[in-house]
Amino acid sequence: MTSTLNTDQLLVDDATWWRQATVYQIYPRSFADANGDGIGDLRGIISRVPYLQGLGIDAVWLSPFYPSALADGGYDVADYRDVDPRIGTLDEFDEMVEALHGAGIRVIADIVPNHSSDDHVWFQEALAAEPGSPERARYIFRDGLGADGSEPPADWTSMFGEPAWTRVPDGQWYLHLFAKEQPDFNWDNEDVREDFRKTLRFWSDRGVDGFRIDVAHGLTKELGESLPSQAEIDAITEPGAHPLWDRDEVHEIYADWRKVFDEYTPPRIAVAEAWVSTPRRPKYASAEGLGQAFNFDLLEADFDAEQFRTIIADNLALSAASGSSTTWVFSNHDVVRHATRYALPPRNGSTVKQGLKWLLSGGTKPVADAELGLRRARAATLLMLGLPGSAYLYQGEELGLPEVADIPAAERQDPAFFRNPGVDMGRDGCRVPLPWTRAGSSFGFGPDGAHLPQPASFGELSVEAQDGAPGSTLELYRAALALRHELQAAETLEWVRSPSDVLHFARPGGWHVVTNFGTDAVPLPDGEVLLASGPLAGNLLPGATTAWIRTV
Ligand code: NOJ
Repeated sequence: MTSTLNTDQLLVDDATWWRQATVYQIYPRSFADANGDGIGDLRGIISRVPYLQGLGIDAVWLSPFYPSALADGGYDVADYRDVDPRIGTLDEFDEMVEALHGAGIRVIADIVPNHSSDDHVWFQEALAAEPGSPERARYIFRDGLGADGSEPPADWTSMFGEPAWTRVPDGQWYLHLFAKEQPDFNWDNEDVREDFRKTLRFWSDRGVDGFRIDVAHGLTKELGESLPSQAEIDAITEPGAHPLWDRDEVHEIYADWRKVFDEYTPPRIAVAEAWVSTPRRPKYASAEGLGQAFNFDLLEADFDAEQFRTIIADNLALSAASGSSTTWVFSNHDVVRHATRYALPPRNGSTVKQGLKWLLSGGTKPVADAELGLRRARAATLLMLGLPGSAYLYQGEELGLPEVADIPAAERQDPAFFRNPGVDMGRDGCRVPLPWTRAGSSFGFGPDGAHLPQPASFGELSVEAQDGAPGSTLELYRAALALRHELQAAETLEWVRSPSDVLHFARPGGWHVVTNFGTDAVPLPDGEVLLASGPLAGNLLPGATTAWIRTV
C-alpha cells in the first residue's frame, strides 16, 4: 500500500498530521536484530521499513535508543544525544529517518526529562563534587535526618517500590522517583533547562518529527525545607497540590519547549506521558504546551460497552475543549498486552485489575482464555481505529501477540521484577522480541537468538505465518489502517442508539462502527460491510466483534 504521505513535500507541509495519525511504537531492543547480538537495532528497523509501510501507519515512536546501562529498559539515559552502540550509530539513525520518511512515515523520539542514568556525566560529576556545589545542584541532593544524617530526608517510596532517597559516600542523599540508577533532575536549575532545549533541537535537526515525553507530570517538585512524610503525601487529593506530581509549574517548561518546537516547519509535535486525572490532561495537551497527551482510559478499562462509551464521550469532549485531538492506546511496553488482559476472567468486577494481579501472581492462575482474549482485542482495536483522534499501536499487537508470562526468573530483565521479589512480575512479558518467521533462530528476530526467550507459539503468530492469510490479525490491521486513511474525515462522531451491550457510532461520510461487547449476536445495521474483526453470522454481529459499515 502506498502511504498518502509518501512525498517529502507532504511531510513538510502538513502541520496537523498528528491529529488523527496512527503511531506505531517500536521498542528498539525487541523489534529486529540485524547484527546478531540478540538485541534489536537501527539496521533491523531499516530492514523492516517496507513492513511498516505495508502496515499503513503514519509514524513510529521509538522507545529510548540512547546509551544506557539498562537499569530500566533504556529509560535510564546516559547520553541524550547519542545512540547506544549496541543499537547503532548516529549515522545509522540518520539513515533510518531517511528511510522512514521516504516511506511516508514520521519519527517520534522518546525524551526522558525527569531523570537521567546515574552513568550520565552530570551525575558522575555531581558525585565527585562537594555538597552544595553547582554540579550537585543539577540533581536533588539533601542532607539526611538524624544526628549523623543517616536517615533519609523523607520516607518516600519510589515507583519501583524501593526507598526514593539513596545515600552517596559523603553522606548526602539524592532523590529518585524511579530506580536508584535514575536520579531525578532539578528542573529549577537552568543548566538542566538549557540542556533539554539543546537535546530537542539536536533530534529535530536530524529530522525527528516529534517527541513522546516520559513522566511529563513529574519534572517540577515543590520541596520545602522540611519534607512531608509518605503518609502525608498520600493523603493529598487536591489537584495540583502534590509536591512531586502534576504541579502547575511544569507547564512553564512545556511553554518554553513549544517555542523550540515552533522553530521548525512543520512544528515538532509532542505527546505527554502524564498519568494524571482526566480533567488535568488538557493542560498538557494545550497548543501552548506539548499539544497532545496520552489518554490511558481505554487501556485501563474492561471490555465493557458502558465503560468504553463514557470514556470515549468524555475524552472527545475534553480534547475539543483544549483544541487538541485525543489519543487512544491499548498496549505499550509497560502493561500486560491487551490480548491477554481481555483473556482473563473478571474478578472483583474488573478484568484489568485482575490482569495486573494475574501478572503479579506469576501469570499461571487463573488460566486465561486466549481465544476470547484475542477476539476481544481485535474487536477493541477495530473500534479504536474507527475513532477520531490518534491511535497508538504497540509492536506485536498487529500479530495478536499475548503477554509472555512464564519467562524464567534467571532470564528476566525488568527492575520491577528484581526489586519486588514475588510481588511484581515486571514488564518483560510484553517486551519479548517479535517473531518474523515461522521457524529459524529467534523466529527471524535476528540471526543469533533473542535477548528474552520467545515461546514456541510465536512461530504461528509470526509475520510470515500471517502474511496474506485471510482472517489473520496482521491482515486485519493492514486492512483497517488502509481503510482508516481512506475514511478518516472530521474529528467527530455521532452515537447511534443501540442495545446496552453494543456501541454504535457514525463518522462523517457514512462510516459506521459497531461493536458487540456481549455474547449474543445482534443484527448488523444496513449498509456495506467494509471490514469485521471476526467472522459474521450472516447479517448478525456475534459477541466480541466489531464491524465497519458504509451506508453511503
Ligand atoms: C515511563 C516509561 O514508559 C517506563 O517504561 C519507565 O520505567 C518510566 N517512565 C520511568 O522512566
